[in-house]
Amino acid sequence: MQELLVDQLRDLYDAEKQLTKALPKLAKASKNPELAQGFRDHLEQTQGHVQRIEQIFEILGQKAKSKPCEAMKGLVAEGREAIAEDLDPETKNIALIAAARRVEHYEMAAYGTLVMAAQAMKQPEIARLLQATLQEETETDKKLAASGKTLLKEAVRPDGEATTKSAPSKAKSSPAKSSPAKSSASRKPNGHGHLSHTTSDHDEIRRWAEARGGKPACVQGTGGKGDIGMIRIEFPGKPNANDSKLEEISWDEFFDKFDQHGLSLVYQEKTAEGRPSNFNKLVANTESERKPKTRSAR
Ligand SMILES: [Fe+2]
Ligand SMILES: [Fe+2]
Repeated sequence: MQELLVDQLRDLYDAEKQLTKALPKLAKASKNPELAQGFRDHLEQTQGHVQRIEQIFEILGQKAKSKPCEAMKGLVAEGREAIAEDLDPETKNIALIAAARRVEHYEMAAYGTLVMAAQAMKQPEIARLLQATLQEETETDKKLAASGKTLLKEAVRPDGEATTKSAPSKAKSSPAKSSPAKSSASRKPNGHGHLSHTTSDHDEIRRWAEARGGKPACVQGTGGKGDIGMIRIEFPGKPNANDSKLEEISWDEFFDKFDQHGLSLVYQEKTAEGRPSNFNKLVANTESERKPKTRSAR
């Protein structure tokens, strides 16, 4: 049994080390700042997973040695494919989440079995260390699932459809693919012909939101310890086409996160039909500085 445990640990040791190299690439490829941050957070945890395995080797009186994990090589290769694929930003995020969740499930299966093995072998300290990692993998998967749920709705929202609905609140019609950083307003190359503004000015954002009854919120399930997760502007009482579970937060919390991630808000004053628009989208400053790019066909 101990031999099997050591063998499995060597495999996981290699798997985790592969991930410390893969996660920064996933973060870099993410088109959503919060998703990117999630990958960076998990990178930090993964470095801890490597250390825990080293601790376990020590407890077992074994040299920390790794054995090539072929499964992880395959999963990482698929992740690379997701990174390289030519997709529009929203779809790219989903592809990255799909790749990352495959990895998490592989790890959960491996750690879950090893926790049981360590318990059966009356190795409580080893079981505790493995359980701590298992917990982090499980939480990461849950966060990825919650982020995916939110981002998926953005990815599949057909352009322009929302503005045709009756409620002005549903005017989230034209997710701007990119936004000019220099000017505060410009015509988007999306055929809708109405003006979008881009700003990172707190007062301007708050004024725009409050004029529409908008409140600062976070998406439940996307945060963690001391982290509120993804932020959004919520329009209470209005059907929420975008995020299913929003939780109100304070403007201070909202802008802390907003600044921390270097975000800008793209928003509209009026829809193409001249009605007050609630359309808004949080974008990373780097994204907003990119040249307008036409959306690739789906
Ligand atoms: Fe891990
Ligand atoms: Fe992981």
